[in-house]
Amino acid sequence: MTKRLFSILAAALLCTVCAVAQDKPVIKVETTGVQLVFKVGDNGRLYQSYLGKPLTHDSDLHHLPRGIEAYLTHGMEDYFEPALHVEHSDHNSTCELKYQSHSVTTQADGAQHTVITLADDVYPTTVKMHFIAYKDQDIIVTNTEIINGEKKPVVLHKFASSLLNINRSRYFLTEYHGDWAAEVAMSETELNFGKKVLDTKLGSRASMFIPSFFQLSLDAPATENAGNVLVGTLAWTGNYQFTFEVDNNGVLRLLSGINPYFSEYTLKAGETFTTPDFIFTLSDSGRGKAARNFHNWARNYRLKDGKGTRMTLLNNWEATYFDFNEEKLAGLMGEAKKLGVDMFLLDDGWFGNKYPRSSDHQGLGDWDETKDKLPNKIGYLCKTAKEKGVKFGIWIEPEMVNPKSELYEKHPDWVIHLPNRKEYYFRNQLVLDLSNPKVQEHVFGVVDRILTENPEVAFFKWDCNSPITNIWSNYLKDKQTHLYIDYVRGLYKVLDRIKAKYPNVPMMLCSGGSGRIDYEALEYFTEFWPSDNTDPVERLYIQWGYSSVYPVKAQCAHVTTWNKESDIKFRVDVASMAKLGFDIKFSDMSKDDAEFCRNAVTNYNRMKPVILDGDQYRLVSPYEGRHASTMFVSEDKSKAVVFAFDVNPRYREHLLPVKLQGLDPNRQYKVKETNERGNNYWFNGRTYSGEYLMTVGLDLFSTRRGLTSHILELE
Ligand code: GLA
Repeated sequence: MTKRLFSILAAALLCTVCAVAQDKPVIKVETTGVQLVFKVGDNGRLYQSYLGKPLTHDSDLHHLPRGIEAYLTHGMEDYFEPALHVEHSDHNSTCELKYQSHSVTTQADGAQHTVITLADDVYPTTVKMHFIAYKDQDIIVTNTEIINGEKKPVVLHKFASSLLNINRSRYFLTEYHGDWAAEVAMSETELNFGKKVLDTKLGSRASMFIPSFFQLSLDAPATENAGNVLVGTLAWTGNYQFTFEVDNNGVLRLLSGINPYFSEYTLKAGETFTTPDFIFTLSDSGRGKAARNFHNWARNYRLKDGKGTRMTLLNNWEATYFDFNEEKLAGLMGEAKKLGVDMFLLDDGWFGNKYPRSSDHQGLGDWDETKDKLPNKIGYLCKTAKEKGVKFGIWIEPEMVNPKSELYEKHPDWVIHLPNRKEYYFRNQLVLDLSNPKVQEHVFGVVDRILTENPEVAFFKWDCNSPITNIWSNYLKDKQTHLYIDYVRGLYKVLDRIKAKYPNVPMMLCSGGSGRIDYEALEYFTEFWPSDNTDPVERLYIQWGYSSVYPVKAQCAHVTTWNKESDIKFRVDVASMAKLGFDIKFSDMSKDDAEFCRNAVTNYNRMKPVILDGDQYRLVSPYEGRHASTMFVSEDKSKAVVFAFDVNPRYREHLLPVKLQGLDPNRQYKVKETNERGNNYWFNGRTYSGEYLMTVGLDLFSTRRGLTSHILELE
């Protein structure tokens, strides 16, 4: 992260440094729709005076109230949750930060980078607050550096990435909690005096119960298209914490950062602690706009290969589980070709010899091909895939180990486990200690060996099925509280090396479904697996939830046999709303269904640029009733794709036409149904103006019993 920041900085076009001499500076961080204003008080300390719609007259900024201290420290006169708690080498735990200077530079990518430097005048502790403002996307990326200028180590007890103060009449927090196969269930609560904390202590599989993003409606609950809403997320692939604290004056203080739980961090003399990015946007026109801000920003600036295309695929997991051999795989590659997808993805079960990976009880850690199953190794699979005309991708879970493995036998000291207690397991496995450079080497080696021996491998599915359990690092010795943080840093070191050596190999981030997803990981991964639950009805909710901050381009959606009673069209249509894949046995499918899937892949390939790179408008939420609809509009508004779903409607429900969004009112659009399977809309083939479609709308929903879906292409 730091490297990225500095390489961008190096290319800075403009630099203005305002020194302390300037009398009480007022510092603005702004985008088209968001402004943060900081002021220096008479006491020399920095305050956040404003967060809201940009004030266009600079002369007004001086009228703003002083506000609350911008990076609140422990031990001073404010009694609410601090952003920083440093225990100095003499064990004094206080810090009084005063404004030193600030600078504004324009990065090579056009974003404005503001750095505000604060320092204590009793102890040599310096804090640098960074804000990178993406004007057109209304996204602000912020993080903090804490520098220990003492000659001895200091201990950080609290080290937030960001503190935002928001002064509104009421606050409504939308969170996305869940569990395996039931991810991102949306719920909303009003916040009153006191604290609400969203956090995780799961380590590697950090987001299993709740991903690191939220929506905060201000004054009143925001809807999709109206209301003020702040949407934020932490870019950290480990324990995070958001604290929403409403103080005695009704001001909401939002602290975001690494979870300080069991993470006191010792900073050596001269060392800098860099916190992860907190990324946020503020929308005055509802949640939909905030989501689009994130999508556009991610595709342009953050997501790995954000502008590139994505491959459709056939995965063998649910088709075979651990039961396969070369012949079966070759057969599936042939099916992939017939289906028309770009790639065949080999899942779990291909490795281990002393303890072959024939179930999830053994073999993890031993990344050599199982001789019985794959006598001709990965090389043969690459060759066969090539002959069949598809690319070849492979599953790995390199951070993990089964106790029943050669790796565990050889290197028990590489494993996070307690030296003096009985081990307990999550999915029969343990996590390797990535704080240890030797383990980092091993994990890097898993990918490096596969790609060195088989440069044709075109894709990795990188899994992570266990949280950190049995917490003890043999490597960290007396610094056990560094483990949660150094684990993540170790992971980034490995991913940095992979990205540097193999910049063009796409990777999917998976974690037993979606136990792990954030915007730092997405610097390395082109996509993620939102849930093992591929029941299309559940996916309507799950994909909706994730689309609050992640573009559908990064969300993998596979057609499987979950909810196999539903028609294949419904399953394919739901999966086509994101990055389409299949994980199903075609040999078990009827001829008609298989033919339908083949056509659907062709249709998807045609629609893909609009779906994956267009603007997403979430028209009707599945949370609001028995129907759902989402549409995507190309950047030039010449094309759009509309998805509509009925989920067990009520008899004689009162249905209204659905008003489309994001179109050009003066353009004529021909409306054509895709993935047809009987039951076409009566208006299929008609032409309407954008104005009509957005003002009157179309009868997208029906009261037909069961599950019904439609896809419309607009041109
Ligand atoms: C996890 C993933 C699945 C599959 C299995 C393999 O559960 O989410 O998609 O890869 O691991 O063991």
